[in-house]
Amino acid sequence: MGHAAVVFFSRDGSTKRAAEVLANRMGATLVELHEAQASNPLILAAPIWAGNGNPAMNGFLDQADLRGKTVHILTVQADPDHGSSKAVLDHYRRRVVEAGGTVGGTRAITGASPGKTAEEPAIRDALEGWEIG
Ligand SMILES: Cc1cc2nc3c(=O)[nH]c(=O)nc-3n(C[C@H](O)[C@H](O)[C@H](O)COP(=O)(O)O)c2cc1C
Repeated sequence: MGHAAVVFFSRDGSTKRAAEVLANRMGATLVELHEAQASNPLILAAPIWAGNGNPAMNGFLDQADLRGKTVHILTVQADPDHGSSKAVLDHYRRRVVEAGGTVGGTRAITGASPGKTAEEPAIRDALEGWEIG
């Protein structure tokens, strides 16, 4: 397996914070969604909006060629019970497989209310124990 990248979209900064923690932990490159490049594995990280996948991540998956890539998927949302995360993660799983990728694993974490950014210690705790290599 080659060099890892964490690919993320973030409006208010919580998902960016989670992506930074993961990239540091893995020695991976941090890539904003619009500049996603040829790396393997990929960690896709995006907030849940209105109980759905994020339009920015959906747009990326519309045009992504993920053949031969292992893809891990992270959702960030305000709801501490992670409502709708299962449906959203299943949606992304299907999209990744349609694009030719293999899903390595998924994780749903709590970020913050809209307009707020979660504190880094809380993000670190939420990501604790996620085995992504
Ligand atoms: C337009 C919009 C819709 C949202 N819808 C939901 C939702 O359905 N469920 C939820 O738990 N959080 C929802 N949120 C909250 C975000 O998922 C949460 O603030 C997350 O931490 C944002 O990540 P970011 O800081 O990386 O942008 C919504 C936020 C916005 C801006």
